[in-house]
Amino acid sequence: MKKIKITGNRPLSGEITISGAKNSVVALMPAAILADGIVTLDGVPNISDVDSLIAILEIMGVSVTRDGETLTIDPSGLKSMPMPYGKINSLRASYYFYGSLLGRFGTATVGLPGGCDLGPRPIDLHLKAFEAMGAEISYEGDTMTLKAIDGQLYGATIYMDTVSVGATINTILAAVKAKGRTVIENAAREPEIIDVATLLNNMGARIRGAGTDVITIEGVESLSGTRHQVIPDRIEAGTYVALAAAVGQGVRVTNVLYEHLESFIAKLEEMGVRMTVSEDSIFVEEQGTLKAVNVQTSPYPGFATDLQQPLTPLLLKAHGQATIKDTIYEKRIGHVAELARMSADIEVKGDRIAYQGGKRLEGAEVKATDLRAGAALVIAGLMAQGETIISNVEFILRGYSNIIEKLSALGADIQLIEED
Ligand code: UD1
Repeated sequence: MKKIKITGNRPLSGEITISGAKNSVVALMPAAILADGIVTLDGVPNISDVDSLIAILEIMGVSVTRDGETLTIDPSGLKSMPMPYGKINSLRASYYFYGSLLGRFGTATVGLPGGCDLGPRPIDLHLKAFEAMGAEISYEGDTMTLKAIDGQLYGATIYMDTVSVGATINTILAAVKAKGRTVIENAAREPEIIDVATLLNNMGARIRGAGTDVITIEGVESLSGTRHQVIPDRIEAGTYVALAAAVGQGVRVTNVLYEHLESFIAKLEEMGVRMTVSEDSIFVEEQGTLKAVNVQTSPYPGFATDLQQPLTPLLLKAHGQATIKDTIYEKRIGHVAELARMSADIEVKGDRIAYQGGKRLEGAEVKATDLRAGAALVIAGLMAQGETIISNVEFILRGYSNIIEKLSALGADIQLIEED
């Protein structure tokens, strides 16, 4: 069992570089199997979700080579076969194989997806889109089979009842090789969707409107290999900007696309965080007194649900009381009880998290309940007086590339320890 041990209350300074976006790469890798040639991805983060996807691709006969941050995916040996349940279940984004296998073979047999437990995470919108394109769905135990009735999908107009990143990307993956035109209305607008559309268009797909709420896809016969640079991870960037504001004495966060973080930066400015934004970096100064603010998450370009938990420790440093409301995942509250164990004045009250800032955090033994809750505990541990031991760190390693090395380089006293 892996744990993270932190001795807190040390000032951090220096530079930290953001890796490629987890939520892009977990879609780009399944997208690559739609190509007839080799797809090379640059800027791939060193996270366990990527390891899990490589393992899945290899079982399917795809050859994958990794050289530092470059991943070369050769799908020429790809076989149409049922997906192994254990592997698929290890990460939620495995659902992107539904769309890419359907698009490639007209059929996909897959286990139901896993990932962080944030309460109910339905996939009804994904399935509704596949059905609209002519797929039939059947279940056997934990396995689901999707089959294009005609052996081929057809373009359709699909209205998404809820704005969903996963359903939008999955529909694109299924539609790029479908016959005719697909229109996605009320599409999600996250930057990762633009990244996936850019890769697919460079492979020869005809996708317009990614990044807006109406996306149009004209199906094409075949797609070829290409080379693609993964966008920087805006959630990792937001996490480290919040961390720098909480414990930094001058930290530059580099490889950042500011436009992807506007609502987050606006919230920090409302708190009184002092920072300088330049073309591809954010310099976070040592902070004075900060103000408690209300936070409410919403789909992009609103405040990201993935940044709600990593921001919480910084909110606990601010003066005053306020609330946090997650409208996307109401059950994203696993960090609250753990922060309370570290002496934070925070609790769940109805559909919100209520906090009173300004109280000093104390080191404690805590548990990461999911990926972003884990990031919140790392920041809290760095802020706290004394030692913090975080268990369940596998969650953190799913999404934060080289986190121990990156934080050690800033002067943090942080170690990964293995226990029986
Ligand atoms: C993605 C991100 C995740 C982020 C989330 C919201 C990846 C791999 N994960 O997850 O980090 O927290 O977006 O920004 O990119 N919903 C339905 N039916 C569906 C699908 C979704 O009702 O078929 C609901 C969900 O319960 C949720 C909302 O739609 O309330 C948004 O979810 P969605 O954008 O789909 O999240 P994911 O794509 O799973």
